Amino acid sequence: MDKILEVKNLKVSFRTQGGTVKAVRDISFDLERGKTLAIVGESGSGKSVTSKAILGILAGNSIIEGGEILYDGKDLLSITEDEMYKIRGDKISMIFQDPLSSLNPIVKIGRQITEAMLLKNKANRKEARNEFNSLLKILKSNMIAAQGSGSEAEITEMVKTFDGFATLSTKLEMPYNDAMANAEEIKASVEDLLFMVEKKQNPDVREKLTDYVLMLQKVQNEFIEDEHAAKLTELLDKCKKEKDSYPKKAQENVTLSASLEKLLNDTVKLMDDIINQPRPNFFRIGYYKLKGKDCSIKGKGVEKLNEEALAFLNDNFMNHFLELEDNGIRYSFENALENKKKLLPKLEGAKKYYEGSFTKAEAKSYAKTLADLVPASIDQLEINKDSVAYTFRTSLNKAIDKYFSAQKTNPKEEARFAKQSAKREKLIAKGKNVDWKVVPKSVYDLDELKNNIIHVVTRLEDKYKAEIAAAENFDVEARGIEIVDFFKAKASQVVYKVTKAMAKEKAIKLMEEVGIHEPRRRYNQYPFEFSGGMRQRIVIAIALAANPDILICDEPTTALDVTIQAQILELINQLKVERNLSVIFITHDLGVVANMADEIAVMYAGKIVEYGTAQDIFYDPRHPYTWALLSSMPDLDTSDKLDAIPGTPPNMIYPPVGDAFADRNKYAMKIDFEKQPPMFKISDTHMAATWLLHPNAPKVEIPKIITDRIARMKQKSAGGEI
Ligand SMILES: Nc1ncnc2c1ncn2[C@@H]1O[C@H](COP(=O)(O)OP(=O)(O)O)[C@@H](O)[C@H]1O
Ligand SMILES: [Mg+2]
Repeated sequence: MDKILEVKNLKVSFRTQGGTVKAVRDISFDLERGKTLAIVGESGSGKSVTSKAILGILAGNSIIEGGEILYDGKDLLSITEDEMYKIRGDKISMIFQDPLSSLNPIVKIGRQITEAMLLKNKANRKEARNEFNSLLKILKSNMIAAQGSGSEAEITEMVKTFDGFATLSTKLEMPYNDAMANAEEIKASVEDLLFMVEKKQNPDVREKLTDYVLMLQKVQNEFIEDEHAAKLTELLDKCKKEKDSYPKKAQENVTLSASLEKLLNDTVKLMDDIINQPRPNFFRIGYYKLKGKDCSIKGKGVEKLNEEALAFLNDNFMNHFLELEDNGIRYSFENALENKKKLLPKLEGAKKYYEGSFTKAEAKSYAKTLADLVPASIDQLEINKDSVAYTFRTSLNKAIDKYFSAQKTNPKEEARFAKQSAKREKLIAKGKNVDWKVVPKSVYDLDELKNNIIHVVTRLEDKYKAEIAAAENFDVEARGIEIVDFFKAKASQVVYKVTKAMAKEKAIKLMEEVGIHEPRRRYNQYPFEFSGGMRQRIVIAIALAANPDILICDEPTTALDVTIQAQILELINQLKVERNLSVIFITHDLGVVANMADEIAVMYAGKIVEYGTAQDIFYDPRHPYTWALLSSMPDLDTSDKLDAIPGTPPNMIYPPVGDAFADRNKYAMKIDFEKQPPMFKISDTHMAATWLLHPNAPKVEIPKIITDRIARMKQKSAGGEI
C-alpha cells in the first residue's frame, strides 16, 4: 500500500491561563494515496488541531509535545517555515468550514484564484532546475560506479549530451509557451471585448484592435501548425485593416460591423485551435535539433515531428542511455539493499542498547553513529521518497531529547506538586474553605518515552525487512521510465511560466471544474455576490489552484444547507477521482462520510478510539463511543428518536486517567476509570481502544438501535457498498 502521509504519535497541547490543554493525545494514522480518510468526532475532540498541525498553522500558544508527520521524505514537524511554505497550498491544501474566512471580502474572486497560481510559479521553476541537476548527478555517479558496459568517459559524455538536449529543449519550449500564453490572452481579451459590446460598456475598439495586432504577432512561432500559421497571417492582415478603418475616437453605443464581428469570432476560434493543437515533445526535439536535424514542422506537422524525433532519439541515444541507466539503477538499488542488510543487526543492537541505561551524551553519540549509516542504505534513485529512512536521524534525536527533557523536568514537577498538595491539605485540616485545585503533575511516563526511542529504530527495521523481502520483485525498467519521466517533467517545469492571462484562463477552467456557471462573468465578482455553497466551491478552486496531492477538508459542509451539502460532497468525491487526490475529511457527523470515506478514524478527547475501513465502522462498530455517534446520526428511514450522546466531553486540562469516555459510557467497567485501554486489534484493518475487547471483559450486546440500523443499511445497499 502506498502511504502518502503518515501521522505518528502526535501530541499537541495548548498553554492557557487555566493550565495546559491536552488537545491531541498521541494519535497515529496513515493516509493512502488516492484515498479518503475521515476523522470523525464531537466538537472539541482535536480534529482541527490535528489538521492544523499537518499544515503547520497551529496557534501561537501550541506546544507540539511529540510525534512526527511524515510526507515526501520529510517530517513536517521538523522542517523550516521556508520548506513548509513550499508544501502548504502547493502539495497539501486545506478548506475550512466557513468559506468566508478563507476569502478576502474586498478582492474579486478571480484575482483570489489567480494569485495563488502566480505566487507559486516562480519558486517552482527554480526548484525544478535544482531537482533535475541533483538527480542527474546521482544517476551519473551510479552509472560510473556500476562498471557495466560503458567507460567513465562514455558515460560522462552521455550525461553531458543528456543535459545538453534537455537544456536545448527548454530553450525551444520557452518561446512556444509564450506563444501559447499570448494565444490564450488574445482569446480572453477578444471574449471580454465581445462581452463589453454586448453589455453596452462602450469599449475603445480601435485601441483593442491595435493590441490584437501586436499580440497576434507574438503568437507566430515555428511550432504552430501550418494551417493555423496561414490563418494567423491572414487574420493579422484583416485586423490591421479593420483597425485603420475604425474611428479613432472612442464611441458611444459601440456596434460592430458584420465583418468585424466575424473577424473577432474567427480570432477566438483560431486561438482555440492553436491552444489545442498537438504539443511538440521538446524533450525529444531537443536531441533532434542538437544533432543538427531539421526540427521545423513545416509541411510535416507536430505529430510527425514528434515521431521522427523519437525514432532518432531512440536509435542514436536513448536505448543506449537506458541500458547504461539500467546498470546504474540496479547498482544503486543493490548497493542500498546490501547496506540495509548490514544495518539490520545494528538496528537490533540499537534496540537492546536503548533498552538499557545510558547518559544523554552516550545516547546521542550512539544515535549519530547509527544515523550516519542510514544514508547509504537509501536508494538515492527512488523517485517517491520514503520518509521513514529519510527522517530517521531527526526522529531518533527527537525521541532521545524528549526522554531526557522529561527526566529533567520530573523532579521540579514532583516538588511543586508535593508543596501545593501539602498546603491544600493543611488548609483543609484547619477547616478552611478551599476553592482551588492543585494542577496535577505533568510527569511523563518515562517508560513510554523510552519505548518511543526504541520504536523509531523498530520502524526502520520493519521497513527494511519488508524491502529486503520484496527485493526480488524490483523492476529496473519501470524505475528507468520513472526517472526519464521525472527529467522530462522537470525540464518542462523550468520553462513553464504562468502569465496573468494564462492564470486567468486556468482559473476559469477551475471554476468550471468546481461547478460554477458563467465563470467568465463571475470571475469579476466579489465574494458577497455568491451563495454559501458557491463560495465553498470557490474556496475549493483556490485550494486546487496549485495542484496539491493532499486535500484536507475541515467540516467543509457544516455551514451549508443539507441539499447544498450533498452537492459539495459529491464535488469533493469527483475531484478526488479525477485528480487522484488523497483526502482527509473532517466532520462531527458520521453520516456525512458514509458515501465517501475509505477509512475512518473516530476521535474522542484527543485520542483515536476506533480506526477501520468504512465497512468496519458502519457494519461492525466496537467502541461504545462509535455506537453513540452512530445512534445520534439522523436516519431518514425511520422516525426513531435520536439518541443524543448524554453528558459532555471531559475537561482537557485534566484528562481522565482511564478511558476518557467512561463517564458517559453506560457499559463502563471499573477498569475504564482506572486505566487507559490499549488499541485492540480486531482485524488487519480494524482496531479499537476499549476494555470491552479485552478477553476477560463481559460480553456486551451492541445497542438495538444500531443493529437495526445496520440491518437497514445492509438491505439498502443489497450487497453493494455502503
Ligand atoms: N489555541 C488554542 N488554545 C487553547 N485551546 C485550544 C486552542 N485551539 C484548540 N484548543 C482546544 O483543543 C481542543 C481540540 O480542539 P479542535 O481540534 O479545534 O476540536 P474539533 O475536534 O472540534 O476540531 C479543544 O478542547 C479546544 O478548546
Ligand atoms: Mg474543528
